Amino acid sequence: MKDALIFANWKSNKTKNDAKNWLEEVSVQIFPQNLEIVILAPFTLLDFISSYIKMNSLLLKVGAQDISPFESGPYTGEVSASQVKEFAEFSLIGHSERRSNFGESNEMIQKKVERAESSGLIPVVCISRISQLESLGSNRDIIIAYEPPFAISTSGPDASPENPDLVSEFVQKIKEKIQSKVIYGGSVDAQNIKEYLSIENVDGVLVGGKSLEPQSFINILKNAV
Ligand code: 13P
Repeated sequence: MKDALIFANWKSNKTKNDAKNWLEEVSVQIFPQNLEIVILAPFTLLDFISSYIKMNSLLLKVGAQDISPFESGPYTGEVSASQVKEFAEFSLIGHSERRSNFGESNEMIQKKVERAESSGLIPVVCISRISQLESLGSNRDIIIAYEPPFAISTSGPDASPENPDLVSEFVQKIKEKIQSKVIYGGSVDAQNIKEYLSIENVDGVLVGGKSLEPQSFINILKNAV
């Protein structure tokens, strides 16, 4: 049984009350020891979730879904890596929804990765093409998420998970470029999680839609082992 990272990307969902209900339901489960479970929460929930986890001694970790490319300062509306670091260990960077809806370039993503690293956050960088790795260098303490936009469950009526053989090929190409952990994201659910985790060099998964309801996320965790 290999160790696996399971990221729950809540995207722009959940109020504090929703988060409390989710945590109450998920936290009564016994989590398999080999799973590292990380909630990627909206900024507004980072404080609440990290406090809840500490107070209840839960084996859950916290990450943000984005950070500013700048250090703290006169950047209205931005949340810096050092602000996030008070509550979280990880930050997602360069999700395809940010690349397409907010015009994030590889250059901006590189700046965010540098900000995360200098603040002690572990960057989880989303890519869908090998060329998006170019600016990142070859040997960093980062996690690469292979997440093809067409595989994201909310991307349209034809959304479907990437073929595991193609995930395997893509992951080998990543490994030739960079020594980092690699996870897969896109329509991961309780039925397919085992198959993705069994791919050589896949260290975990990035779950979107199926992480929102406590029971569907619990089913994913149960089937991951
Ligand atoms: P789905 O799991 O809903 O396909 O979302 C994937 C995703 O975008 C996670 O970052």
